[in-house]
This record gives sequence, structure tokens and C-alpha cells, in this order.
Amino acid sequence: NHKAFIFDLDGVIVDTAKFHFLAWRKLANDLGFDFTEEQNEQLKGVSRVESLKKILKWGNMELSEEEFNRQMALKNENYLSYVEEMDDAEILPGVPKVLNYLIENKIPFALGSASKNARTILKKIDLYEKFDAIVDGTDVSKAKPDPEVFLIAAEKLNAEPHNCVVFEDSVAGVQAANIGKMTSIGIGDEKVLNEADYVFTDFTEIEIEFIEKLLRNQK
Ligand code: G6P
Ligand code: MG
Repeated sequence: NHKAFIFDLDGVIVDTAKFHFLAWRKLANDLGFDFTEEQNEQLKGVSRVESLKKILKWGNMELSEEEFNRQMALKNENYLSYVEEMDDAEILPGVPKVLNYLIENKIPFALGSASKNARTILKKIDLYEKFDAIVDGTDVSKAKPDPEVFLIAAEKLNAEPHNCVVFEDSVAGVQAANIGKMTSIGIGDEKVLNEADYVFTDFTEIEIEFIEKLLRNQK
């Protein structure tokens, strides 16, 4: 059975994590409170609905269903105003090197993201055609740390979960990969992502030799 790679989008392929943070923070500020960058870690990888629930809890607020939905739509509008400006210069350093290696060696790879904006973003940065499969927030019903998004991606790539390698910048995403019995690679702070099998600050730290090692290893 063959190996396959699965990439999260926000904070792994592109640094949209900063745009999500700005947009959520504006929402909180408009409602009269604030939250920290540390709290923001808990929003990474988490769906739009779950994120707003967490934020409202931090602000000790409850909203009617109608207002909840209106705030979610406003956040997304604000977020998309940042996405609008994106192009392939936003692809994070070191990512093209790894993707090109996989393409040249015919190793299948998929996107596994919680975002409903994933396809829009991939098109903006010209990577949409490169992925063998795309699974995003419009395809799943269970949010990370549930492994659903990665299990569907593995299935689409025709790979066994234990042969899949997942790249993730979020705690919830690393947990999802682990629960799915996949190899988890954390991208970010190793103190935050200590549950991952391996952690790198960013893709520039990942050598092709490491990718080749992953291709030989089993979890
Ligand atoms: C990713 C991001 C989260 C975001 C979620 C939903 O997992 O890390 O910060 O909330 O996707 O994104 P969406 O674009 O659908 O609001
Ligand atoms: Mg992410």
C-alpha cells in the first residue's frame, strides 16, 4: 500500500491564520471585549460555528440564533476582504519545494481543511489544480479533533490511514491526525504542538531527506 500526504490549509500552506485572528478579534471588539493570541490558538483548526461559540464564552455573551448567524457572516465578510488581496506570493516559504517533490515523485496529496473558503483560497494562490483531492469545511460534518476530514482525504487518495502523513499548525488538527492513526507533523511552536510526532517551526526547516524518510517509515 502506498503513502499519501495531507495538508491543512490555514497556517500550513498560507498564513491566513493571521487574517482569521484579525477578523475574529474585530468581532469580539465590536461586541465589547477582547481575547489574547494564546486564546486564539484554541481557534485554529476549529470550524466557524465552534470558533464563535468559544469566543462568546470568553466574552460571557449569549446571542440569539439570528444574531449569531449575522455575526458569523460579518466575520466571514471581513475575513474575505483580506483573502481578496491574496496571490501566490502568500504561499509560505518552503511549501513549494515539498509539493514539487511530491508531484515529481507521483506521491498523492490532498487538502484537509476545516475552512469553507479553502477552494477559493487555493484558486487565488494557484494551487487548486495541484491537489489530487480536496476535502474542506463543506465536505465534513464533524470538526477537528474528529479525524473525519483526514479520513475522507485518505479514502479519496486510496491510502490506508497509517500510510498517511498530515501537516498541521493547530492542536485540534494534530489530535485529529493522531486519532486517525496517521503520522502527524506539527508546523509551529513545539510547546503548543507537543502531541505531534514531529514539529517544525516552518517548511523551510523540512529537508527532502526528511520527506524521503517518511516515505520509508510506518507510524
Ligand atoms: C481553519 C482555520 C480556522 C477557521 C476554520 C473555518 O481550520 O484554522 O481558524 O475558523 O478553518 O474557516 P472558514 O473559512 O470556513 O471560516
Ligand atoms: Mg490550520
